[in-house]
Amino acid sequence: MNELDSIVESAVSAFAQAATPADLENAKARYLGKSGSLTELMKGMAALGPDEKKSRGAAINLAKQAIEAALTARRQGLADAELQAQLQAQALDVSLPGRQRGTGGLHPISLTMERIEQIFASMGFDVADGPEIETDWHSFTSLNNPPNHPARSMQDTFYVDMKGDDGIHYNLRPHTSPMQVRYAHQHIKKYADAVKAGASMPEIRVIAPGRTYRVDSDATHSPMFHQCEGLWLGENVSFKDLKVVFTDFCRTFFETEDLALRFRPSFFPFTEPSAEIDIQFQSGPLAGRWLEVAGSGQVHPTVVRNMGLDPEKHIGFAFGMGPDRLTMLRYGVNDLRLYFDGDIRFLAQFR
Ligand code: PHE
Repeated sequence: MNELDSIVESAVSAFAQAATPADLENAKARYLGKSGSLTELMKGMAALGPDEKKSRGAAINLAKQAIEAALTARRQGLADAELQAQLQAQALDVSLPGRQRGTGGLHPISLTMERIEQIFASMGFDVADGPEIETDWHSFTSLNNPPNHPARSMQDTFYVDMKGDDGIHYNLRPHTSPMQVRYAHQHIKKYADAVKAGASMPEIRVIAPGRTYRVDSDATHSPMFHQCEGLWLGENVSFKDLKVVFTDFCRTFFETEDLALRFRPSFFPFTEPSAEIDIQFQSGPLAGRWLEVAGSGQVHPTVVRNMGLDPEKHIGFAFGMGPDRLTMLRYGVNDLRLYFDGDIRFLAQFR
């Protein structure tokens, strides 16, 4: 192999080995630069005669063209590789699923509360809200609880360690029944005006859902729980109306006509007569068992008097139901404590 061929061969292999554009430019300098091997050969031609110069020059030129062609090809090759690497690094897989933001949902008991409100609103009931820290009078006395009634005891009721300027004792309301009296007081002017005008007495038709508290804690009792009070007083609202309203409510709430109700005689100081309301599913996993869902009764005349109203003119029923229990029955929840653990695996099922 002659000298020129071997220079070309060595240049081609040096270019091929250059891994970066900078390597390649260095390699180029070794062959085509000011003191590159080919340039040196060209300088050597000065000593040759005219004929030799001509043929030698042509040969060197061919070699130079070959080296330049190899250089250009390698430059293009390196540029292509770099572009390819860049594309790979910035690759975007449009088939990947998007990253989602978790969406929250309402707590199962909130869902039940909303459902209760909707159903009773559709039957013309107002929805009222009241304080969870109550006076002794609202929680007990106004509701005809005798002073020695067990519900007042420290075993059942949480007392608040605070006494108002008026010497009033406060408790965390153990039921929503104080709202019966509070609601009547809030609207007392309307009733007084009706009496003055000789008009017919406006009805009271209201539910009061909210939190309630008792010293109690196990799988079916929580120290904080929920109740929803119901009150319908009119000229002559009877126990029959209670049965119709509550049966309607239960069948709508549980979305089944296949539901039996039982009014079991009971006692509450603020109603007379009084009844526990039990329901029984006729089919499904709970079929056949009587399940207690509410206390109820005709509002006691003493309570109506404490509302500031005439028990001859305001006659009707009240009930207090347990939304926690209703939620357990509707969704098949078997432990009340799940409501308050905040476990996302439980809560996410209600979204
Ligand atoms: N307040 C009663 C309870 O907490 C329930 C009830 C409400 C009973 C209204 C009768 C009338 O058990």
